[in-house]
Amino acid sequence: MAAYEYETHEYDVVVVGAGGAGLRATLGMAEQGLRTACVTKVFPTRSHTVAAQGGIAASLSNMGPDHWQWHMYDTVKGSDWLGDTDAMEYLAREAPKAVYELEHYGVPFSRTEEGKIYQRPFGGHTTEFGEGPAVQRTCAAADRTGHAILHTLYGQSLKHNAEFYIEYFAIDLIMSDDGVCQGVVCWKLDDGTMHVFNAKMVVLATGGYGRAFFSATSAHTCTGDGGGMVARAGLPLQDMEFIQFHPTGIYGAGCLITEGARGEGGYLTNSEGERFMERYAPQYKDLAPRDYVSRSMTMEIREGRGVGADGDHIHLNLSHLPPEALAERLPGISESAKIFAGVDVTKEPIPVLPTVHYNMGGIPTNYWGEALNPTKEDPTAVVPGLMAVGEAGCASVHGANRLGSNSLIDLVVFGRAAAIRAGKVVDGDAPAAMLNQASVDAAFDRFDGLRNAKGGVPTAELRLEMQKTMQADAAVFRTAKTMAEGVEKMDVIATKMNDLHVTDRSLVWNSDLMETLELTNLMPSALATITGAAAREESRGAHAHEDFPKRDDKKWRVHTIARVDGNKVDLSYRPVVTKTLTTEAEGGISLKKIAPKARTF
Ligand code: FUM
Repeated sequence: MAAYEYETHEYDVVVVGAGGAGLRATLGMAEQGLRTACVTKVFPTRSHTVAAQGGIAASLSNMGPDHWQWHMYDTVKGSDWLGDTDAMEYLAREAPKAVYELEHYGVPFSRTEEGKIYQRPFGGHTTEFGEGPAVQRTCAAADRTGHAILHTLYGQSLKHNAEFYIEYFAIDLIMSDDGVCQGVVCWKLDDGTMHVFNAKMVVLATGGYGRAFFSATSAHTCTGDGGGMVARAGLPLQDMEFIQFHPTGIYGAGCLITEGARGEGGYLTNSEGERFMERYAPQYKDLAPRDYVSRSMTMEIREGRGVGADGDHIHLNLSHLPPEALAERLPGISESAKIFAGVDVTKEPIPVLPTVHYNMGGIPTNYWGEALNPTKEDPTAVVPGLMAVGEAGCASVHGANRLGSNSLIDLVVFGRAAAIRAGKVVDGDAPAAMLNQASVDAAFDRFDGLRNAKGGVPTAELRLEMQKTMQADAAVFRTAKTMAEGVEKMDVIATKMNDLHVTDRSLVWNSDLMETLELTNLMPSALATITGAAAREESRGAHAHEDFPKRDDKKWRVHTIARVDGNKVDLSYRPVVTKTLTTEAEGGISLKKIAPKARTF
């Protein structure tokens, strides 16, 4: 057994991660007087939410008529009928409240002439249950909305005395023998000390796992740390095969050019200068949902109408927009285009390519953020003491495809919901639990094994192999052949985890070891993604299976549940929630309105 001295901390709630969801949960917990710690591997305002650009969806009706039911309908259709109906209703209903709260906390939203929160159009957001024109539903702070939200929530959390443990890396969950989450074991990166957090509730807000792929808009810190910890605790991941490709990553660099650029009037063209989205989505054109636009761009490139010397990307045009509008509404991406593509957006188009952007799947939860461990007998069984929110979780509101700007609203609505729920189920007066020492020791043993790994494969080499395989075989379009090859290759790659080599054995700022721990978190997510994709014989949302081009609701309107143990993935399925929270008589949406149908735009 590895002998590490450690300090023990006791809290009512420990939130792991300080992005939008983690901070909103932290703030909500602390506001209620729960003793709350937020543990984060990066400084809170450097969390990946800071990179969110275009905005946050809520039916405020500031720019024209809107309704929460229209937002819900768009989310249901956007999800290609894989989202859970109760969670999607909760999201759309609570969104305006959650945004006004942000405004009152101090988020500096852009303003209309009358001083209201400015809203812009985003893909897939419509009026009249998809029958009317596009709606301006996305509330924006120029093109730095995530930055504005993150800074505000951090300030508010401090004001309410939440305690922050910054640059602490969470190694593993502490689980009791009867399946209760009791806390988390952490490594403090800057001085090498070890810490055990004993908590009545652990909230995983660790973000997505975009870095399982070679080219992603996600920060290098997006390594699926929550998913890794959950998999090692014997708990499942859900719907991991659904990977969102954002249509407009900068060609080569991969950084994001916000969908807000098309919301403000930008458009895509091919090598013939044609606005090709008019052919694929006659009603909403460049403002169709992301899966639609990414597939259309890929088809243009495949058919020889890509731009550039190799015909392998597409142009995003903004130069027809007034320079003052670009400066006011899109200053951040104007700068990114200059730095990363050498393009002056007032004069030239930006070279773009669909780029991995978001994970629809994650740790399964109910709409209160409580983590689930579904069984055949009880598909909604809750894991006591564990929650997951934000991109780490899967409530599931995004189903098979997320609408742009539904991510920021997911973070705050479900971060807030988790806090409301914790206020009910966490007893601040109860004594701290006696920790399962075997679980604590197992975390230190794993850590020590990696720290002293003397195999033949450097972490960076194996990570690159995984990233290239995932990029090639879990792509925008997938075939049975490519996915089967992907499963085989990933099996070989995952087996090499037993042969890792870590060079630096120190405990202080050991980035070699930290990246190795991160790789142990990325790997289960990557395995669940490719295995779940190979098994799903239909096309739905972001899962475009060329051998099964149609959606098959009879067989496949189910969530994939993946349990990963080493390089083995066990798949099962659980039903999608099709019940609304409120009936039509109570003011809810009509079930007829949201019944599955062909998804056209
Ligand atoms: O395009 C964007 O600004 C990204 C927004 C989102 O992913 O929701």
